[in-house]
Amino acid sequence: MSKITAAITAVGKYLPEYVLSNEILETLVETNDEWITSRTGIKERRILKGKGKGTSFMAINAAKDLIEKTNLDPTEIELVVVATATPDMQAASTAAFVASQIGATEAFSFDMDAACSSFLFGMSVVSSFIESGKYKKVLLIGADKNSSMIDYSNRATCIIFGDGAGAVLFEPSSDGLGIQDEYLRTNGEGREFLQVQKGGSANPFEKGEVFGGPECYVHQEGRTVFKNAVFNMADVSGKILERNNLKIDDVAWLAAHQANKRIIDATAERMGLDESKVLMNIHRYGNTTSATLPLLLADYESQLKKGDNIIFAAFGGGFSWGAIYLKWAYNA
Ligand code: UT7
Repeated sequence: MSKITAAITAVGKYLPEYVLSNEILETLVETNDEWITSRTGIKERRILKGKGKGTSFMAINAAKDLIEKTNLDPTEIELVVVATATPDMQAASTAAFVASQIGATEAFSFDMDAACSSFLFGMSVVSSFIESGKYKKVLLIGADKNSSMIDYSNRATCIIFGDGAGAVLFEPSSDGLGIQDEYLRTNGEGREFLQVQKGGSANPFEKGEVFGGPECYVHQEGRTVFKNAVFNMADVSGKILERNNLKIDDVAWLAAHQANKRIIDATAERMGLDESKVLMNIHRYGNTTSATLPLLLADYESQLKKGDNIIFAAFGGGFSWGAIYLKWAYNA
């Protein structure tokens, strides 16, 4: 019997309507479009507005987009994983709510968090369920409402992050399509450089304590994170090519986490990959954390061809990083 591999067979997306442009940011903090564009490649990002709307709102809409596009019966979905660093609540699973709302009533579900590597690591997790032979339809959603933990008076972070969600369906392939190999890593020494200090179990809010200090928002030491991201994303992408005897001409696309265009360009350059093969949407959405990779797939779906070799790469808080080699499974 041929080996079962885990293939992506459908994609969907959701982006909030509100556009936060560089020009609007110029009115909030001391910055300018030229600085943001040249240092990050970002022109605008989407922000989810509306009281009570959390990450699940975007995850549900991305999943519904996928379901409507493919006429999928949601009761056939067996597992829903929501990759997110911004769950709706601390105690209740976001994935459980999402699964119910999309009609995946026969599925079990859970959240997983590896900061900006959440979706990449999620690909590894859900592919194991498919490869086991026990599961045939698994939904992986990457969604983050980053605006819920950003201080819009801090120019070091507010220019980077945006909100959004992307969903992909994994199904078994007996033709060898889908995930071929992965190389995933973490190093907890990195956590001081990218974190939200307050609000978790190590530093919970005490009764009567007021929300609002810098420790309540994302803190990032940009230069340190930048250097580690460039080195490690290029390193794992190179290793995955070498391990699979892939020449650069064998690679159809690089799908890299959209944190900074300069990091993506540096990764492609180290690999020797032409920029025409680099999927890019950071200019429109900024860094959407867990949503960057599925949003790339959704935006470029019409250009991806069955059999295309795609290298996924990500780097994020923790530190967490890695690369995955996948063969695309369909023509849209
Ligand atoms: O997704 C998770 C992983 N995250 C990342 O991969 C992000 C990695 N880091 C980065 O992308 C970059 O480090 C940033 C975009 C965050 C910052 O860019 P940078 O080129 O590393 O800038 P910097 O922090 O070294 O700051 C350079 C200068 C500083 O001024 P001085 O000290 O040289 O006078 C900053 O104060 O730019 C100043 N600056 C700004 N100026 C205008 C910092 N932020 C801004 C701003 N507008 N928004």
